[in-house]
Amino acid sequence: MIELISITKVYGQEPNTVTALDRVTLKLNPNELTAVMGPSGSGKTTLLNIIGCLDSATAGEYHLDGENVAGLDLKAKARLRNEMFGFVFQAFNLLPDKTVLDNVMIPSRYSRRPRKEWKPKAMAVLEQMGIADLALRYPDQLSGGQQQRVAIARALVNDPKVILADEPTGNLDSATGREIVDVLKTLADKQGKAVVVVTHDGMVASQAHRLLQMMDGRIIDDSMLDSSSVVFSHPNF
Ligand SMILES: Nc1ncnc2c1ncn2[C@@H]1O[C@H](COP(=O)(O)OP(=O)(O)O)[C@@H](O)[C@H]1O
Ligand SMILES: [Mg+2]
Repeated sequence: MIELISITKVYGQEPNTVTALDRVTLKLNPNELTAVMGPSGSGKTTLLNIIGCLDSATAGEYHLDGENVAGLDLKAKARLRNEMFGFVFQAFNLLPDKTVLDNVMIPSRYSRRPRKEWKPKAMAVLEQMGIADLALRYPDQLSGGQQQRVAIARALVNDPKVILADEPTGNLDSATGREIVDVLKTLADKQGKAVVVVTHDGMVASQAHRLLQMMDGRIIDDSMLDSSSVVFSHPNF
């Protein structure tokens, strides 16, 4: 479904360049929850941004459902981004002056979905996240765990094949973080999504099916985990 071949990302101009990704080759599969770990600055966010078509690679090939993403113009990329990917962030990134329902409906504006379906679809994903009763509240009236469920609902509203989550449990206590990882894992197990979660937390990573470890812009390890795996957090965070 998603294949990166020798993807390199260089930021800045000579002589002040930073190689954020260095020849990364990677396939992502449906039904798979992949955790990405690595020290700060190792390229985790850059990798998610390139996978999610938020940023372009400097070199390498990126195939998405057989299409070479590098060859697409900005408009085609934007459409692909809105249809294929759902994004979840550490800080939830909900709009404070909009209700939960309105927040979840936002991505629909950039979809082909007819307007009359926006609200029922948003309610359906809120239902799926177990928070339909919070639809008319505002983000600051919710707990962190509830806000992250809203953000996941928003990520799901356009039926993406891929969910990209950058430290989604970073602002949550460990019990709530565990619940959020369970939600993400269910999306992989029961709905066939490919889910990628960047995390510093070994407990979160150990729930994943697969663990990528990054260092200096490279994937230094790519392993399948079994349910008894224990993943230790990196000491240098
Ligand atoms: N927009 C940018 N401009 C310049 N350098 C960047 C930019 N984004 C990231 N970097 C650099 O690229 C490297 C990888 O960053 P990042 O992907 O954010 O790492 P991580 O998420 O693992 O902490 C770091 O050295 C960072 O400073
Ligand atoms: Mg990061």
